[in-house]
Amino acid sequence: MNLHCLVTGALGQLGRDLTATCPPGLEAMFLGADDLDVADEDEVTAALIRLAPRVVINAAAYTAVDRAESEPERAHAVNAQGPANLARIARILGIRVIHISTDYVFDGRGCRPYRPGDATGPLGVYGASKLAGEQRLLEALGPQQALVIRTAWLHGATGANFPKTILRLLGERDRLRVVADQVGSPTWTRPLAQALWAAVARPQVGGIHHWTDAGAASWYDLAVAVAEEGRALGLVTREVPIDPIPASAYPLPAARPHYSLLDCDATRVALEQPVRHWREGLRGMLSELRGRLPEPPAD
Ligand SMILES: NC(=O)c1ccc[n+]([C@@H]2O[C@H](COP(=O)([O-])OP(=O)(O)OC[C@H]3O[C@@H](n4cnc5c(N)ncnc54)[C@H](OP(=O)(O)O)[C@@H]3O)[C@@H](O)[C@H]2O)c1
Repeated sequence: MNLHCLVTGALGQLGRDLTATCPPGLEAMFLGADDLDVADEDEVTAALIRLAPRVVINAAAYTAVDRAESEPERAHAVNAQGPANLARIARILGIRVIHISTDYVFDGRGCRPYRPGDATGPLGVYGASKLAGEQRLLEALGPQQALVIRTAWLHGATGANFPKTILRLLGERDRLRVVADQVGSPTWTRPLAQALWAAVARPQVGGIHHWTDAGAASWYDLAVAVAEEGRALGLVTREVPIDPIPASAYPLPAARPHYSLLDCDATRVALEQPVRHWREGLRGMLSELRGRLPEPPAD
């Protein structure tokens, strides 16, 4: 087999959009966690020797931000040791690795979009484990052979994510309270997946890059947008008031950055990808979701 690309974590929300957007004619293999455990060094080594892809996209991750606070070993095994395992054998075999990371590597005290070279300072276990993964990958392979794409606030039609939680709550609750003092860029996994395929086609792009949909929103802004767009698409049928609250009124196990916009300018140029506003991405994801729902029974 002349395998061009191996995708790990292929059953996650990004993995599924990578599967859906794979360019025609590109020989790719998509492995879920049951097929390839990136935390298992022997498994990773055997798979990469057997399949000999030219490129690996590592979409596998431990993404439970709050649970990570009580499961730091597991978070580090997947998010730090996983990329290290891939890097070790990729270095020997000359395989390029494209790895996905997160805005949560930053502490959120900035006041302009974070650039790839800005100082990091994760606030929790998840961010720290993802930062360690970036570092171990780049230390082993260097920017010629490794590309880290940091992204943020992902939502896809197949995943568990904030917009889908809000949709459900809008059907169940009479009032919602949503955090309004944490700001980021909601990002649809579909265009992110397309950007990653553009990266596969551009081996000269390496090191750390940032990719999100454009614009800024708080969780509150995003919840209000889900209600509006959901109503326009017939996914939301009730009027439910949404109140803005500070994060301090909704304590969670893991602290989140108050501000985590990522400066994506250089990446858009390098990957020749269009800018899409997050609201357009949200509309796209909800439209896809509506297409996946069963038709209501006829009267
Ligand atoms: N979600 C976000 O808001 C967000 C924001 C910024 C960055 N990111 C990054 O974007 C990437 C994709 O995230 P996502 O939202 O698609 O996450 P996701 O839906 O949670 O998908 C991650 C996938 O990785 C799998 N996985 C877990 N442990 C594994 C292991 N040891 N070996 C192989 N696969 C394993 C998971 O399988 P199981 O479900 O069976 O465990 C899951 O299918 C990740 O690197 C994440 O850190 C995500």
